[in-house]
Amino acid sequence: MTECIKILIKENPEELAWAGAELFCEAAETAVSQKGCFTVALSGGSTPRPMHRLLAKDPFRFRIPWNQTHVFWVDERMVSYDHPYSNFGLARNDLLDHVTLPAANIHPMPNTESPGENAFLYQKQLDGFFNLPLHQYPVFDLIVLGIGNDGHIASLFPGTPDPESKAAWVMPVKGGNPDVFRLTLTFPVLNNAARLFFLVSGKEKSEVIQTVFEKPSADLPAQHIRPHHCQLTWLLDRPAASMLSKFKQGANKT
Ligand code: 6PG
Repeated sequence: MTECIKILIKENPEELAWAGAELFCEAAETAVSQKGCFTVALSGGSTPRPMHRLLAKDPFRFRIPWNQTHVFWVDERMVSYDHPYSNFGLARNDLLDHVTLPAANIHPMPNTESPGENAFLYQKQLDGFFNLPLHQYPVFDLIVLGIGNDGHIASLFPGTPDPESKAAWVMPVKGGNPDVFRLTLTFPVLNNAARLFFLVSGKEKSEVIQTVFEKPSADLPAQHIRPHHCQLTWLLDRPAASMLSKFKQGANKT
């Protein structure tokens, strides 16, 4: 793991969600004050949901410059947006329906074509939005990640072929739980973010967290996150951090 990594331990899921919402707001305020626009890519799963619900309420809702905010997805399951598995659908219910984010600023991953075609279409959409010279990767102002018990991040699972692919920004994948077709941003895009934070909650994640930090040879997808711009924060609640030797004594709360 690189040296620019910061680990913040919070006592419980509520404090974790609050800390995540703070980081989200800071990233939005900084990006908008520096360049007039904030781009964020959200993950799915259950862990970010309390943070999304907080962002939909005071004080966070009013701190975020929604008109200048553009929301994208780190990964998506290839189901309809109304399906309970849909990452976009969950974020819409928890957050997007409750804030004044213009519809044109919401960029869900497409789900109507084949997985390969959807991946191509999302990459094209990103390309149009970021409008980059050839061979450059988009720089999201913020990417929020979770981690699975097997060490996956986004929909990049252990054994996903060609994890360091230099070509694609978005790729189709089959697997995970639920075991469905998915689209995912790739490592080069994730690692190119200006800021990136993980949200990790619960005792069931403690083993994988220990592996990520203390067993570098495990070669888990989460260990391939080494952002080029040196802004990576791991936000853990105490149960998730409980197997880390550094925190086993209950010290070092940040
Ligand atoms: C997905 C995710 C995935 C998620 C982890 C953690 O769509 O499956 O984006 O990478 O972040 O599986 O999920 P939980 O928060 O539910 O544990």
